[in-house]
Amino acid sequence: MMMKNVNPTETNAWKKLSNHYNTAKDLHIKSLFNNDTNRKNNFTINFNEFEFDYSKNRITNETLEYLLELANEAGLKSAMDAYFSGKKINETEKRAVLHTALRNQSDSEILVDGKNVMPEVKEALNKMEAFTNKVVSGDWKGFTNKSITDVVNIGIGGSDLGPDMVVESLKYYKNHLNVHFVSNIDGDHVQEVIKNLNPETTLFVIVSKTFTTQETLTNATTIKKWFLQSASEKDVAKHFVAVSTNLKTVSEFGIDQDNIFTMWDWVGGRFSLWSTVGLTISLAVGFKNFKDLLIGAFEMDEHFKNTPFENNAPIILSLIGIWYTNFFNCETEVILPYSQYLSKLAPYLQQAIMESNGKSVDRNGNKVDYQTGNIIWGSPGTNSQHAFMQLLHQGTKLIPADFIGFKESLYGNTDHHSKLMANFYAQTQALAEGKTKEEAHLDLKTQGKLNEMETLLPFKVFEGNKPSTTILIEKLSPKTLGSLIAFYEHKIFVQGIIWNIYSFDQFGVELGKELAHKNLQKNI
Ligand code: F6P
Repeated sequence: MMMKNVNPTETNAWKKLSNHYNTAKDLHIKSLFNNDTNRKNNFTINFNEFEFDYSKNRITNETLEYLLELANEAGLKSAMDAYFSGKKINETEKRAVLHTALRNQSDSEILVDGKNVMPEVKEALNKMEAFTNKVVSGDWKGFTNKSITDVVNIGIGGSDLGPDMVVESLKYYKNHLNVHFVSNIDGDHVQEVIKNLNPETTLFVIVSKTFTTQETLTNATTIKKWFLQSASEKDVAKHFVAVSTNLKTVSEFGIDQDNIFTMWDWVGGRFSLWSTVGLTISLAVGFKNFKDLLIGAFEMDEHFKNTPFENNAPIILSLIGIWYTNFFNCETEVILPYSQYLSKLAPYLQQAIMESNGKSVDRNGNKVDYQTGNIIWGSPGTNSQHAFMQLLHQGTKLIPADFIGFKESLYGNTDHHSKLMANFYAQTQALAEGKTKEEAHLDLKTQGKLNEMETLLPFKVFEGNKPSTTILIEKLSPKTLGSLIAFYEHKIFVQGIIWNIYSFDQFGVELGKELAHKNLQKNI
């Protein structure tokens, strides 16, 4: 059997965790540090240029022991084997889940229905590379024989969020091409993008796995009409390319056969940036950087596949997430990158995580009686400190936070960077330690506020004990970004296995689409 389909609440580990929670819930992170001077090292996983420090979480060795037992009882190991080897673990859609094959750097075969998919993957990458080089070098000419200056990615969901997030994150590595994204069916979006574009020098990349998505087809049609006001049908081949599994419909749309970049049904939309869906990324930063992104992801895949569970970053951090969701009843998780480049990471992870694990029926077809996927949100620090962090520090909700920071700034501005990182560490410390009544008392005294002591004191106390994980990375590069994204992808997988849900379908988004079609027919 590929996956065990076990109700997690019926495992022995869950019972142990429930009992353990009764005492663990009252432990304070500050006292956990006081009791173990080596806690940071004990609760840190080092991987390549990454340090995953999970010491500021409300966990002990006992918590981890039971969580690891839970992973074993859920059959995580055999599920991982099935995931990596191309078994159809997306059972409701009868598909393999093989975004890992797209970045496989080894010589090993990966079989789907008995056929090795690696030659096709390599062929698609070669085609991307050749096309990218032609456009970036200026050799690809538009209908008036001018080189391309602007690229517009037309797609939505996974065909937009991943490429958009990566292009933004790797802005430092960008070439001269101006890159734009059109996603919303709101006509003002497309209009705002095309209003300043020159059809003679713009390349449109239509990205749709299914090529049936209303938003993408509507935007592509509008853009094609706009283009044909200045050019003729035969010029479409020089300005429109498409990425899809649905080759027939793409051809019907008028895209030249040579301009179609194929993908496969074993790549989920929200996991597709590694495929030809990443064409816009490759155009924006060059194929070499795109390849490095794949290499970074592959290295994280290898870490996940080969590292014992207790030192395995995606596994440990997934389990800690389950601890908060199912025992502390946390409903949200916040993503706080201390890098403006990663401003689109949280929206990207919202789709990846919420579309995957926002499920309430288990793999046996039964309604679950426990919590599954969390609400994901966040934005970069330090801006978030001046926006919503108050609620994390002194509000009533417990919100586990991922702090993502880099040791080096890309432009080497050490003054800014040391201030940025001082804030990064200050936040995790403040959340964990808080401020006691005695400390607040002393502060007010020092500030000469003895008269206001009684009225102000309650508001100046911070309980602390707010969990966070610190992901510290040497430097933002295509490679480290690849590893970071892959880390979250594997977290999604592990949590889905333990919650006994199918993470790789998304039937929940269909009803709204059906009703929108009906409304359109009724002319609402
Ligand atoms: O509606 C949800 C969804 O199916 C996502 O899963 C997907 O990423 C997005 O729509 C876009 O789909 P496509 O690439 O087929 O246009």
